[in-house]
Amino acid sequence: MAAGWKDRSCRASTRSPRSTNARRRPEVRRTLIRLALLTALAAAPALADSPGGRPVKLALPDGEQVYKQVCAACHLAQAQGSPDGAVPALAHNAKLATADYPISVVMKGQGGMPWFSEMLTPGQVAAVVGYVRTHFDNSYADPVAEADVKRIAAAIKGSEE
Ligand code: HEC
Repeated sequence: MAAGWKDRSCRASTRSPRSTNARRRPEVRRTLIRLALLTALAAAPALADSPGGRPVKLALPDGEQVYKQVCAACHLAQAQGSPDGAVPALAHNAKLATADYPISVVMKGQGGMPWFSEMLTPGQVAAVVGYVRTHFDNSYADPVAEADVKRIAAAIKGSEE
């Protein structure tokens, strides 16, 4: 259960995030991630307290749990997306063929989707991307590694500086 947890991750806040969370992102996206976070909080028992207002990491043990507790709030249970098309289906989605694309969307956010680099560990991002790429009528079997997530995180960081 504790795999992938770091001391500094055992802190959470549902109050105002400090500057690291707020960097260069419009308020609407923070609201969205807050909503997603609250959804996840409601379902995640193992959340720790955080007096310091550090980013939250959730104790979700595998990709399926991450999907159900976080992604399904918007992409829905069968990854079918929203009926109005605002949230795309992840089911049967050819854009998942290259793991880098979904990793990058999850780490950076895109359009109305918040970024999850602060809520999920690299291992959890790898797990959930691996999960959606091998479920919901997707069969991209090549494994997604934590190292892939870290590589993309570094590239994103580089491009923001
Ligand atoms: C708050 C709602 C929300 C949550 C939670 C969410 N997404 Fe999304 N997601 C979206 C929206 C909206 C888009 C469309 C973004 C755009 O405008 O391109 C999207 C797009 C995507 C895409 C790109 C799909 C494509 O066809 O280009 C992927 C991949 C994706 N999400 C994966 C995930 C995963 C994995 C999770 C869970 C870690 C997740 N999303 C959680 C709202 C959400």
